[in-house]
Amino acid sequence: MSAEQRMLGDPDERETLERMLRVDQAGEYGAVRIYQGQRAILRDNKVLKQMEAQEREHLARFNALVAEHGVRPTLLQPLWHLAGFALGASTALLGEKAAMACTVAVEDVIEEHYGRQEDVLGDSQPELKATVQKFRADEREHKNHALDHGAEQAAGYPLLYAAISRGTKLAIWLSERI
Ligand SMILES: [Fe+2]
Ligand SMILES: [Fe+2]
Repeated sequence: MSAEQRMLGDPDERETLERMLRVDQAGEYGAVRIYQGQRAILRDNKVLKQMEAQEREHLARFNALVAEHGVRPTLLQPLWHLAGFALGASTALLGEKAAMACTVAVEDVIEEHYGRQEDVLGDSQPELKATVQKFRADEREHKNHALDHGAEQAAGYPLLYAAISRGTKLAIWLSERI
């Protein structure tokens, strides 16, 4: 990118990195909260347990990166604390298949989100890029587990999917900025 293009309002590299780490930390935090909410209802579900454990690893990694790079975390964390748990609990109350539908909707958006970050990162941050690539593969696996466990058979699947997908995109947009 030339200096001229930058002056036209593209965020500089530092700001790009800050936004990335902020939104990724927020997203993984939200993911942990979704599974905590689901597991408050579907206590013995092994698939959910396994996915929550992986989200905790993702979150730990971004917590470390946020600290290392001195990035201010999102101010919306208290909101994601509540909204994540509420989304998890409410979908789990609709049943296991609805809980799985929630995972499919969220992970579709996150997979795309990490994919975009991979493109933006290019060769500038090889370590972060490797992290994003690895997590993207994990999220795709979560989605496939959820599909294997009947996500698409949830009552009202298209509506549920569309609503959660929109909410997740909004959460990403907000967490990059606030
Ligand atoms: Fe994750
Ligand atoms: Fe995930």
